[in-house]
Amino acid sequence: MLTLIRNIKRLYGVDESHRSFRAGKEMAEFPFIDNAWLLIRDQRIVDYGRMPEDDGQHSAYDSDRIIDASGKMVLPAFVDSHSHLVFAASREEEFVMKIQGKSYEEIAAAGGGILNSATHLQKMSEKELYKLALERLQEVIAQGTGAIEIKSGYGLTVEDELKMLRVIKRLKNIAPIPIKATFLGAHTFPTEYKNDREGYIRLILEEMLPKIEEEELADFIDVFCEQGFFTPAETERIVEAGKKHGLIPKIHGNQLSVSGGVQVAVQTGALSVDHLEHMGEAEIEALRNSGTMPVGLPNCSFYLRMPYTPGRQIIDSGLPLALATDYNPGSAPSGKMSFVYSLACIQMRLLPEEAINAMTINGAYAMGLHEELGSITKGKFANLIITKEIPSLAWIPYAFGSEWIDKVMIKGH
Ligand code: NIG
Ligand code: FE
Repeated sequence: MLTLIRNIKRLYGVDESHRSFRAGKEMAEFPFIDNAWLLIRDQRIVDYGRMPEDDGQHSAYDSDRIIDASGKMVLPAFVDSHSHLVFAASREEEFVMKIQGKSYEEIAAAGGGILNSATHLQKMSEKELYKLALERLQEVIAQGTGAIEIKSGYGLTVEDELKMLRVIKRLKNIAPIPIKATFLGAHTFPTEYKNDREGYIRLILEEMLPKIEEEELADFIDVFCEQGFFTPAETERIVEAGKKHGLIPKIHGNQLSVSGGVQVAVQTGALSVDHLEHMGEAEIEALRNSGTMPVGLPNCSFYLRMPYTPGRQIIDSGLPLALATDYNPGSAPSGKMSFVYSLACIQMRLLPEEAINAMTINGAYAMGLHEELGSITKGKFANLIITKEIPSLAWIPYAFGSEWIDKVMIKGH
C-alpha cells in the first residue's frame, strides 16, 4: 500500500542524520521542507521532497491513496515516554482537598495518593482495568500520541503488579502504536510493609522480578527515588536487581526534593531520569555525557502547583531534554501532549522548536525507540500528525485551548 501526502504547506521534523537525540543548541532546530510531499509504503516513510521540483518524480509513483494537505503541516507524532495510564479510578476528591489547601505529601500521609489508587486497583478485575486503559489509550492517540510508555506501580502486591503488567502487555498486543512497559513495583511502600521496608524490597526482588522475566511483562524498571519513598541506596539495589532480569532502568527522581535520584540514575546507566523539579549544579553535571535523558513532566508541575523542571537551564547547559505527560490520577490527570507543549513554552520558556524536539525525537530516545520514531526519516514508522490549516508551529503551543489536529496517522493508517 502506497500513500502519498501532497501539497504539505510545511513538513516538519525532517532529519536524515540518524542522531539518537538533540541536545543543547541543536534543540532549537526542527528542520522543515516547505510545499512538500511525503510517500509512505505500508507502515513506513519511504521518501519525501519539495513539490515543484520533484513533481514529475512523485506523480510517477503509483500511489494507492493520495491525501491532499494543502494549507496544512505534517509533524512526527508525539512520543510520550512517561505515563501511568493503567489505573482503576480517578482521584478528584484529592483535587478538591488540594484546592482547600492540603499538600501532595499531606494527602499521601492521610492515606490518599498512590495507596488510594492501589486500593482501587486491587479490587478491580484485569478485564475491567484493560477496558478503562484502552479507552484512555484511544483518547491520547487521537490527541497525537504515536508511542507511549506505561508503568505499573498501583498494584503493590505480587498479584496486582502482575495484573497491571498483563494489562499493559495486552495493550501492546492490540494497540496500533508502539508501547513500552515499565515495572514500578517500587512506587511506594504498601501499608503492611510500612515498618518492614526490607520485606517489601525482598518481595520485589524475590517474587515480582522473576515472574516478570518469566512472562516477559516489562521492558524497563522504575523506582520512585524520593524522601518518604525509596532512598538512593534502595533505588540502586532494586534497579540493579531489575537489570539482572533484563530490565533497563528509568527512574523517578528529584520530584519533591534534591533526592539523589539523578546520581543513582546515572550510576546505574538509566535510560532516563524523570521529574527533576529540584535540580542543582551537581545534578546538571552528573547528567553530562551520561546517556541518561532528563525528562520533564510539566503537566504534573501545573496540576500540583509545584516548581517546573528547569528545562531552560538544562538545555542552556548543553544537555538534551525530553518532555512527557506523566498521565496518572494523582499528579497529572491528563495525557494530552499538546498541553505539555504549551506549558513547556509558557512556563519553562522553551522555544516551540525545542519543546517539540523534546516531545518527539528525545522522547523516542527515552523509551528506546529513536530508530523507529520521533522524526521524519526514511525507514521510520509513518506515525504523523496532519494539522488543520494553522499559521505556524508556534501557534500550536500559543493557542493552548484550540484544536489543531486534523488527522493522526499511525503506521500509515
Ligand atoms: O509520577 N511521583 C510518583 N508517581 C506519580 C504520581 C503517583 C500518584 O500520585 O498517583 C508521578 O507523579
Ligand atoms: Fe510518574
